[in-house]
Amino acid sequence: MTKITSREIRLVSRPRGMLNADNFSLVRTELEPLQDQQVLVRNLFMSVDPYMRGRMNEGKSYVPPFKIGEPLEGGAVGEVVESRTKEFKSGDVVTSNFGWREYFRASPQELHPVSCDIQPLSVYLGALGMTGMTAWAGLNLVAVKAGDIIYISGAAGAVGNVAGQLAKLRGCRVIGSVGSMEKVMFLREECGFDIAFDYKTAPVLEQLNLEAPDGIDVYFDNVGGEALEAALSVLRVNGRIIACGGISRYNDEKPQPGPSNLFNMTTKRLTMKGLIVSDWQDHRGEFEEEVGGYFRSGKLKNKETIVEGIGQAINAFIGLFDGKNVGKMLVKLA
Ligand SMILES: NC(=O)c1ccc[n+]([C@@H]2O[C@H](COP(=O)([O-])OP(=O)(O)OC[C@H]3O[C@@H](n4cnc5c(N)ncnc54)[C@H](OP(=O)(O)O)[C@@H]3O)[C@@H](O)[C@H]2O)c1
Repeated sequence: MTKITSREIRLVSRPRGMLNADNFSLVRTELEPLQDQQVLVRNLFMSVDPYMRGRMNEGKSYVPPFKIGEPLEGGAVGEVVESRTKEFKSGDVVTSNFGWREYFRASPQELHPVSCDIQPLSVYLGALGMTGMTAWAGLNLVAVKAGDIIYISGAAGAVGNVAGQLAKLRGCRVIGSVGSMEKVMFLREECGFDIAFDYKTAPVLEQLNLEAPDGIDVYFDNVGGEALEAALSVLRVNGRIIACGGISRYNDEKPQPGPSNLFNMTTKRLTMKGLIVSDWQDHRGEFEEEVGGYFRSGKLKNKETIVEGIGQAINAFIGLFDGKNVGKMLVKLA
């Protein structure tokens, strides 16, 4: 094996409040020679995801924190350059959790083979990847069905736009909130949402009351904060909440008090279920069959915002908190 130089992003310090580029470093490293039972992979695309913000903090959560001085981790799709295993050969395409770097060595157990027949390969990080599966799992978690009126916050993002498209395919009436007019148009014209509004132009509750005067059955929460509070107000009796994310609070230095109207849970007998997509790994085959089928037949769009090069990865990540992405935010590495 010729010597391979790779660049990777490391965590230098834990962000306090809103993160900035100084919390990270871009480092050039030389890979150790490949050992038996190892595969050398060149990443083609890597994912940046809001949940990674939580891993930059210290403390116990459902995934361990990133370590200071070490490369970050996250979803990536790459091509096998060299293999000293029987499971993989050069040219195979794999997904892994070794994002935030250009090349890496791994054992076969750390890689998941994917088919090159589906293009673009970046779809394995979006609609057919972790975020698409989150959307699908969320709808299943509270048994979203035909006739439901569902409101989705963060609706033009990776999870939100797929959740909305899948809910439409199930026969729901779909409402989405987003942070710009461009995203409103994307939801209405490309994703088939019935209603989309810009949460920056008027209070969410006001807009929901206008667009769903008879209330909603389901709330898919990607944002928390004001959107959750508004949803609690407009949910009907026996309504369901998919507690998927709360990006509006991920950069808070101190936890904020919860919704002031939580008592709606009681008066309206609401159900709120927490979602962690990794709990659904055993259903991956079902997800790939159903959602993969929609994608292959053209019924599901995979929208992406792609930035070029590992040097832009941190900007791409910070951009998630500024709403810079429509669809899945990705970094193209090769
Ligand atoms: N539970 C799980 O297993 C799981 C798995 C994946 C993702 N998630 C969660 O799902 C949510 C969406 O993730 P994603 O990967 O699809 O990200 P994403 O929606 O593609 O990107 C983040 C989007 O959040 C919106 N946003 C940022 N700050 C906001 C604020 N203060 N208020 C309202 N909206 C804000 C921005 O869109 P606008 O322009 O519309 O503001 C931005 O584009 C996140 O909360 C994430 O943590 C959970």
